[in-house]
Amino acid sequence: MLKSKKAVIITSAACTVCLVAALAACSPQASTTTSDTDTPASPSQTPTAEPVETPEADEFGVVVADAWKDAYPHQYETYKQNEENSPESGKANYLETYPALNTMYKGYGFAKGYEEAASHSYTLESIKATPRVNEKTLANCITCKTPQFTAKVNAEGDDVYTIPFADMIDLFNEPVSCWNCHENEPTQLVVPSKFYLTSLGSATETTPLEAQVCGQCHNEYYFNSEKVTSNPYVGTEEMTAEKMLAFYDDLEFSDWEHPDTGAPLLKAQHPEFETIYGGKQSHMASLGYSCADCHMGTVVADDGTTFSNHNLVSPLENDAVLAECSSCHKDLPSQVAQWQSEVTEREQEISLEIERYINELAAQKDTLSADDLARAQQIHRHAQFYWDYVMVENSEGAHNPDVAHENLDKCEELLEEGFGILGA
Ligand code: HEC
Ligand code: HEC
Ligand code: HEC
Ligand code: HEC
Repeated sequence: MLKSKKAVIITSAACTVCLVAALAACSPQASTTTSDTDTPASPSQTPTAEPVETPEADEFGVVVADAWKDAYPHQYETYKQNEENSPESGKANYLETYPALNTMYKGYGFAKGYEEAASHSYTLESIKATPRVNEKTLANCITCKTPQFTAKVNAEGDDVYTIPFADMIDLFNEPVSCWNCHENEPTQLVVPSKFYLTSLGSATETTPLEAQVCGQCHNEYYFNSEKVTSNPYVGTEEMTAEKMLAFYDDLEFSDWEHPDTGAPLLKAQHPEFETIYGGKQSHMASLGYSCADCHMGTVVADDGTTFSNHNLVSPLENDAVLAECSSCHKDLPSQVAQWQSEVTEREQEISLEIERYINELAAQKDTLSADDLARAQQIHRHAQFYWDYVMVENSEGAHNPDVAHENLDKCEELLEEGFGILGA
């Protein structure tokens, strides 16, 4: 369905009437139907392929990727190409890229190690290797790392989240794979993460499934009082950094207390979905483009069949995708580079200001009035969250440059007020 829409955009981008009609014809609502499998809460749709006989599932009820090899060779082969994007392929160490992070994250696990993400092939290896896991870590940290954990939660209930991490992690051997986006029927898209469907609210009807399947993991989350993986919102209206902060404040939720300023802090995660679909959504989202349109694209195989590229790379590394963008973006790579450098340069500058603020507040903490101290600590909490929200979003500003700048503006305004209180 999306394919016909894009063909229209390319051939008649000047014809507004055709464009609108084509978009309406493949609006997200049109592709969202309710699955008649045993998971009625999950929306699903029927892409192009015909169902085949389902191979045997593992002990968790998951048909692993290798079992689909013969039935869907093209999807399987391109899925395996994700292995090229490995932790050894030259990943940024954020603690070196932004040295101020060592001060900002002080007292929290992220100060021990924080590397740029690798591909889906390495989710289990990465979680086992991270220095952020310790003896208190629960199994809720395995959310989004393997379909086997999600299938276990869906079969046994939320108690699975509170089992110690160490008692569970070795049970699993399948990284993110087919089941996470298709369950055991690759001709359909399914969102198996129930917590996320609750958080989407009516957005299950208004955002494309090709984005929801990614958004179930690429989102801002926290562990609620029952230690269950949750999101700080219901519906796209609440998916902005400002509204999430208000949510966390109402709940008096914090991830840790900063040892020098005493501020109760929040760690932002990876709000890709919210950055694109939250609030008034990105330009490309409003044109109907989903994560899959920019990160997958369509390939024509040697035998003439078409399939979705399952190697999830940057659109700038995917010639088939880039060709579709060029009708509107004459030089997308330099446009993206420009958006990214504007955002990351500001991030770098502002991170140094946050560090200076932390050091000033730490020095004056014991001499401030109770009211000034409370407000100064709240400013630390809020300013750092706005900054982190932009930095941890994996596109470096490209997914929604306007939103990135708005959040950095809010961070700077807060710091200005805070330096006023501190007279610094
Ligand atoms: C991260 C999510 C994700 C994973 C993992 C995934 N798929 Fe898909 N798959 C998609 C999306 C999204 C589409 C539809 C793309 C579109 O409509 O533009 C799709 C489409 C398909 C289709 C329909 C035909 C086509 O190519 O469009 C088949 C068949 C398929 N996938 C098989 C698989 C198999 C087999 C695996 C595992 C080896 C797998 N998928 C893993 C997201 C995923
Ligand atoms: C079940 C959870 C899950 C789903 C579903 C999922 N992702 Fe991911 N994704 C992850 C995790 C976790 C990582 C980080 C892996 C690591 O570093 O160990 C990741 C990493 C990535 C990366 C590599 C990041 C980099 O910096 O190189 C890309 C690109 C990506 N995902 C895109 C997508 C897209 C597009 C979809 C939907 C079609 C999707 N993901 C669906 C969990 C998921
Ligand atoms: C309009 C096109 C577009 C859409 C829609 C889109 N992305 Fe991206 N994405 C990009 C661009 C451009 C980059 C930056 C690529 C680069 O730096 O080479 C990027 C980067 C990323 C990265 C970092 C890894 C990388 O390859 O640089 C991840 C992860 C990611 N996107 C996930 C998602 C998810 C999840 C969604 C849907 C919620 C999504 N994207 C929707 C265009 C898009
Ligand atoms: C119909 C015209 C059109 C097509 C086709 C198109 N874009 Fe865009 N795109 C725009 C416009 C207009 C903007 C707003 C910013 C600007 O003026 O450049 C935009 C903005 C973006 C942004 C910044 C985030 C946002 O949504 O504001 C990214 C990233 C992007 N496009 C990537 C892509 C990619 C990747 C493709 C191909 C898959 C593509 N675009 C195809 C018109 C288009």
